Amino acid sequence: MCGIIGVAGGSVKTVVEGLRRLEYRGYDSAGVAVVDGEGAMWRVRVADGTRSVEELALRLADGPAAPVTSVGHTRWATHGQPSEHNAHPHVDCTGRVAVVHNGIVENHTELAAELAAGGHTFVSDTDTEVVAHLVEAALAGGADLPGALAAALRRVRGSFAVAVVHAGEPDLLVAGRRSAPLLLGTGAGTSLVASDLSALLGEADQLFTLDDDQIAEVRPDGVRVTTLAGDPVVPAALSVDPAWDLEAAQKGGYDDFMSKEMSEQPRAIADTLLDRRGTDGRLVLDELRLTEDDLRAIDKVVVVACGSSYHAGMVAKYALERWARVPTEVDIASEHRYRDPVLDERTLVVGVSQSGETLDTLEALREARRSGARALVVSNVVHSQMAREADGVIYTRAGPEVGVASTKCHLAQVVALELLALSLAQWRGTLPTEVVTALVDELHLLPQKVADALGRAKEVEAVAEAVAGARDFFFLGRHVGYPVALEGALKLKEISYLRAEGYPAGELKHGPIALIEPGTVVVAVVTRGAVREKVLTNVAEVASRGATVVVVAEDGDTTAAARAHHVLWTPPVADPLLSPPVTVVPLQLFAYSLARRLGNDVDRPRNLAKTVTVE
Ligand code: M6R
Repeated sequence: MCGIIGVAGGSVKTVVEGLRRLEYRGYDSAGVAVVDGEGAMWRVRVADGTRSVEELALRLADGPAAPVTSVGHTRWATHGQPSEHNAHPHVDCTGRVAVVHNGIVENHTELAAELAAGGHTFVSDTDTEVVAHLVEAALAGGADLPGALAAALRRVRGSFAVAVVHAGEPDLLVAGRRSAPLLLGTGAGTSLVASDLSALLGEADQLFTLDDDQIAEVRPDGVRVTTLAGDPVVPAALSVDPAWDLEAAQKGGYDDFMSKEMSEQPRAIADTLLDRRGTDGRLVLDELRLTEDDLRAIDKVVVVACGSSYHAGMVAKYALERWARVPTEVDIASEHRYRDPVLDERTLVVGVSQSGETLDTLEALREARRSGARALVVSNVVHSQMAREADGVIYTRAGPEVGVASTKCHLAQVVALELLALSLAQWRGTLPTEVVTALVDELHLLPQKVADALGRAKEVEAVAEAVAGARDFFFLGRHVGYPVALEGALKLKEISYLRAEGYPAGELKHGPIALIEPGTVVVAVVTRGAVREKVLTNVAEVASRGATVVVVAEDGDTTAAARAHHVLWTPPVADPLLSPPVTVVPLQLFAYSLARRLGNDVDRPRNLAKTVTVE
């Protein structure tokens, strides 16, 4: 996820140090814009992956020793490839306004068209650049810098945090935000702004939060905050636990990255859904590269992936077949490569990979292309190896995931694949427009429902406590509840090291039910719809053999609760196909609670790597 640091009346070294502290968030390029006391502005940008900040530091080593006003940025690409010309800060046509930005400007395409028609020239592929030109236009109209930023933010849709400097204002930095974090700090003769507390720790005596749609004027002698309308606001002071060191700050006060990343799931989904509807209401997958005609021509989809990404792919199969009526296979990437699959130019092979670097998935995509099939990747890393090699790409916008156990990326993958399924349905005419619209509206409800499910962590913890000590777990589900069960079992295995089997509930009686005995914990995902009754029957079968039954059930499902010893309640989701991002949350929390009780390092489980680049 991108990071912002800005300083008024401070040293360039403070900005570079801030960028260093933001590196943990993951980034692909970095840059700074510096306005010196003479009113000269210069910009340095480096796109050298995780070496960028170090390279930037070298290039800035001979920078001014005197106090400057400066903004710096670590970029995690969303719009436009990681490259120097897409790295922040971005400037306006005059080169005197420099902008750094986190988040997404949802309506950048229409704003850019309008600004271009007004004579503005764009030089990057980013959504950020429109902000620089909007500020430029407002300044030309007579606004001062804070007023110009306010005018720009009134035009912008989406979630974002921005910081802006101007060559003509050597002592002023302005910043604003909507639904993306931005903090302010003041010290002796220096004021700062940053997207992340870690960049401010030890640099400021007092910290403040900036609220949505507020503008901060950051000057060496302090900060002033107003609304977008210019009315003054007293910013809320932020008190930080004095015991927090840099690592604690980077985890945002969470005990570990896994819990931080679970908490980021509503945002990951919301960002993945941002900007996907065109002005005519039709779905638009901007970065896709494949055309609607390409996708109308396919007669089969094969999803290839590993681990949690494979489980997301399994959910996609139900959605692709139901909505787009296209036959879909899902294959574990390491198996797919060696089974001589039948692929041709009418096959769409979809690789699902958080990292975009997993070797088995990469090779499966290469094999697909050699066979003449179209290769599409769903990846969280812009310009990853898979994204570069595939014919098409859809990006999940979950931000970097540090914890080895995938959480927010898995949810974002499910949502991105459901968007793909709905897009195919629209382009192939298998669903009426109003049904697609209604389903997309429902997708937009998921962030709130996921937040609701996350808010029940204490109840999940109590269930985990009740079954703590068990060694054998079965996770059962049917239909989309089956991949959710598999994901729940995988989470438990990888971070708690407990034996956990994910199984299709109906298959249990064909063998594994022999393993059920008193002490076995069976977690059943009770999905609304045609299979609900059947899962409940399977639950009765294991309960009668002595298992301790935990059900994941929608609020109010008293029948399911009556069959179980413990219930993990979830907020209802109208269409079962959209339920996995919600029903998987209690299972993540369940695995997390059990792993923590066992004293395990949930971020770095034994024997596992975050990205598997070997066969
Ligand atoms: O980067 P990828 O999505 O391709 O990674 C795939 C798997 O290695 C990954 O999902 C793994 O199973 C996770 N540790 C699951 O939490």
